[in-house]
Amino acid sequence: MEIIIKNDYDEICTEAYHIIYQKWQQKNNMVLGCATGRTPLGVYAKLIDSNKKGKINFSELKVFSLDEYLGLKETHPQSFATYMNKHFYQQINIKKENIHGLKGMPEDIDEHCWVYESLIKSVGGIDIQILGIGSNGHIGFNEPSSSFASRTRVKTLTKETIKANKHYFRDGEEVPRYCLTMGIGTIMEAKTILLLAFGKNKEDAVVNSIEGPVTASVPASVLQLHPDVKIILDQEAASRLKRKDYYHWVYNKKKGIERYTKKLKSS
Ligand code: GLP
Repeated sequence: MEIIIKNDYDEICTEAYHIIYQKWQQKNNMVLGCATGRTPLGVYAKLIDSNKKGKINFSELKVFSLDEYLGLKETHPQSFATYMNKHFYQQINIKKENIHGLKGMPEDIDEHCWVYESLIKSVGGIDIQILGIGSNGHIGFNEPSSSFASRTRVKTLTKETIKANKHYFRDGEEVPRYCLTMGIGTIMEAKTILLLAFGKNKEDAVVNSIEGPVTASVPASVLQLHPDVKIILDQEAASRLKRKDYYHWVYNKKKGIERYTKKLKSS
């Protein structure tokens, strides 16, 4: 795991933007896994801006949304499909046929989940999966106790997640209790994972995921087993980390390692 601690939210988004930009330079038809929530919005804003300025071209980009509420139509104002369209997909030059998302009202749920998994495989898998983190450590909608081997499926939301997402809904409107989400096994197959977190209310989830044991009680702790994961945090989200100095040291020495290994190879 690479732990990158930045000063503020804007710096988190800039770092994530550069990683995605570099990948796009190598592979124009990259496959991006996209999370909802407030956390990745700044990254999407930077990608949109870059696309508008003609620096990055998304005509070959493919996207897969991470999760969706079960029972909400794609056109529902609070569906994740609406959220992603509004905050990202509609604002870039992506082809409609390259936008993939889970449907909140599929005819056959199991078949829909299975087809989604097959679709991800058919494009060669996800190159970069963007993740936020729930304050209980969930990734996507994989709540604590989710199996590390899980695939795209229906999940029941915890009361705390329902409460945390209530502000997206109008007064008196119920937050759905069920959802569809890529499984932890699905997420772990992404070639690179970027998990972003900012703010004090994420500090427990962050320390438990990075420095705690790998456990289904903290779904994001599974990322300790992924070969290419970057966790990008602000000072508040990182505040309980014990090895902060080491993470800074590694980050600042990164260029040095590259130079050093090049030198070793050529000698
Ligand atoms: C939601 C989403 C997650 C998201 C998380 C954190 O429940 N399903 O994908 O990462 O909550 O949201 P936020 O970024 O708003 O804190």
